Amino acid sequence: MCNIRITEMQDEKDIEFLHNKQSFNYRFDKATIDLLKKHFRLKDSLYLLAEKGEEFVAFCSVDREWWEDDFFFIREILVDPNFQKLGIGKKLMSRCIEYAKNKKAKGVVTETDSENSPMQNLCSKFGFKEWDNPKWKEGITYKLLF
Ligand SMILES: CC(C)(COP(=O)(O)OP(=O)(O)OC[C@H]1O[C@@H](n2cnc3c(N)ncnc32)[C@H](O)[C@@H]1OP(=O)(O)O)[C@@H](O)C(=O)NCCC(=O)NCCS
Repeated sequence: MCNIRITEMQDEKDIEFLHNKQSFNYRFDKATIDLLKKHFRLKDSLYLLAEKGEEFVAFCSVDREWWEDDFFFIREILVDPNFQKLGIGKKLMSRCIEYAKNKKAKGVVTETDSENSPMQNLCSKFGFKEWDNPKWKEGITYKLLF
């Protein structure tokens, strides 16, 4: 992970940099960017950007906009294909989980497509369990209880 810098986004305008960044068939389209902007404004949101020089490496965000009290939601995680399988996803997710713990959350949730095995494996590494989400049946909801 030589020369890769991880910073916390401080300004909503920085989110535009993510526009059209993609990996596999997942892309930060305008709708995703707008949602990220909306959640950035909330109290206790954490937006982590990884870069190598000026080059985009990865992004991960966590916020507390989840319908169960005291849970944080890992809303987005994306590692550029040139930087995958280097442990960057793990590192960003770990920072988000620690952050939620420090905010006295009960746990963290995230959602993914049922075909997305890299994300499913990543979640398993952290001990997330599949959770029968009454509000979302289109994919898998993962929950990690602290
Ligand atoms: C999921 C994703 C963020 C993983 O990022 P990464 O930096 O490559 O992951 P890491 O190198 O930290 O790997 C962590 C674990 O994830 C799993 N994993 C990562 N890439 C994988 C792949 N291509 N296939 C299967 N498992 C994979 C492995 O279990 C790995 O642990 P290991 O190295 O001990 O085997 C990345 O594949 C990605 O950006 N995917 C596209 C965007 C996306 O789908 N985001 C989730 C939307 S819900």
